[in-house]
Parts: sequence; structure tokens; C-alpha cells
Amino acid sequence: MLLEGKNALITGAARGIGAAMAEVFAREGANVWAFARTPDARFEARLAMAAGKYGVWIKPVYCELTDTAALKEAFRQVMADKQPLHVLVNNAGIMGEDRMFQMTSAEDMHRIMDVNFFAMVEVSRLATRLMARNKCGAVVNIASVAGIEGDSRLDYSASKAAVIAATKKMARELISVGIRVNALAPGFTDTDLVSGLSEKVTQEQLGRILMHRKARPEEIADVAAFLASDRASYVTGQVWRVDGGML
Ligand code: NAI
Repeated sequence: MLLEGKNALITGAARGIGAAMAEVFAREGANVWAFARTPDARFEARLAMAAGKYGVWIKPVYCELTDTAALKEAFRQVMADKQPLHVLVNNAGIMGEDRMFQMTSAEDMHRIMDVNFFAMVEVSRLATRLMARNKCGAVVNIASVAGIEGDSRLDYSASKAAVIAATKKMARELISVGIRVNALAPGFTDTDLVSGLSEKVTQEQLGRILMHRKARPEEIADVAAFLASDRASYVTGQVWRVDGGML
């Protein structure tokens, strides 16, 4: 098991890629603090089922990530468990609109940056402070192929480019306390985030992918588990594409 004995904090764990990560990390032996925005009985039932199946603990922690006071309270809950934190996955994110550059307002930019970038940095500050106590840790930031190549959504692609820049800065600084930091850049993944895209955009995206299909969320989660594990002990400051061959 890749993550046996590790304790991992995953944001955006209620659905999509984050939900798959909670399951895959538990399967690989990790205990999980599963961060989600709003209390949800079905989410908790799923976590309890996975915890029982894999013999680990998985705790829901509810928090709106852009609310600094709520975030600090969520970390107080994590610290109250008195368990070391080994892994952080910054997964929560929101999508931007397919708009012309001239039509992308400052409000659009702020809304996306608040979640995808500023909250990610704030969570990382709080989490790596805990990891530094033990002089080891791994951070996986979920970026996007859009953050590498740019795309039709200025707000979203810029926010993900910022995630990649932050990953490199964090990697440079945090290796001195034994923390590796990498970004994972998914391509087109089958979640609610992209279910609203038009048929035209969907076909355009699929046309670029050698495998001619979307990723399953578990396929992203499997690579995140590897990057978070000691098997990736010589990997830091990198951006790993998981995109089915987008050339
Ligand atoms: P999703 O929309 O299914 O899940 C996102 C999760 O983040 C949700 O559970 C949501 O509640 C949570 N979240 C969003 N804003 C939050 C906030 N302010 N506070 C607390 N929680 C918040 O999306 P999906 O597809 O699972 O995306 C996960 C990550 O992967 C995102 O960062 C996304 O940008 C990235 N990604 C997704 C791709 C795709 O094709 N689905 C492609 C490339 C990157």
C-alpha cells in the first residue's frame, strides 16, 4: 500500500476527483481528513463505508475555504486529533466561464482566484506549518492542463497557472523542512465540473486526446496517491500531466 500509516488532508472531497481521492487514499492505507463545504449525510455515509472497508479513519471537516475564520477553525479541528499531518492535497476548485478576454470582469477573476489560488495558498500555509514540525510531508496541488497551455477561460486558466507558480515557490522553500510539493495537471476528467460543457466543446476536447475519452476521477487520484507517497521521494517542484495524451 502506497500510503500506509500516512494522514492526509484532502480539500473538495465531497465529489468528483476529491471524492475519488478520499477513496483511493484510504485504499492505499491513509487516514483522511476529508474537507467539504457543507454538511452532508450521504457524504458521511460514504466516508464511513470506505473507512470500514479499508481499516482506516476518515473524518469529515466542513469549511468554506475562502472564509479565513472558518478555515482556521477547521484546522483547529484537525489539530485537536493530535495526529501528525503527512499529506495535503489542494483539490477544491471552481470553473470559469468560456468568455472573451474583453468580457472577463475583475469580479470574475477575483471569484475564481479566491478559491483556486488564494484559498489554496492559505490552506498550504496552515498545513505545511504542521508538517514542518515533523520535518516531512508532501503537498499535491491540483492544477490543470489549462494552467500550462492557457485556454478559452482567462480567469480559470490564469488561476491554475498561479497554482503552478506557487507550487514551484513552495517546493523551493519547503524542501529545507523535508516537504515535497508537486502539481498534478489533469486533462478532461469526468466530473460535475465539466458536465455542463456544450457538445461542441466536449467534442473539441475529446478530439485532442489520444485516448479519445475523459479520465475517470480514480485515474487522477491514483497519480496523486503516488506523488503523495514515499515512492515519489525524489520528485518535487514538478507539474505532472495526467491527460490521456493531449498533444
Ligand atoms: P467538482 O466541481 O466535481 O468538485 C470540486 C469540489 O471542490 C466540490 O466538492 C466543491 O464543493 C469543492 N469546492 C469548491 N469551492 C469550494 C470552496 N470555496 N470551499 C470549499 N470547497 C469548495 O470538480 P472536479 O472536477 O472534481 O475538480 C477537482 C479539481 O480538479 C479542481 O481544482 C479542478 O479545477 C481540477 N481539474 C478538473 C478537471 C476536470 O476536467 N474535471 C480538469 C483539470 C483540473
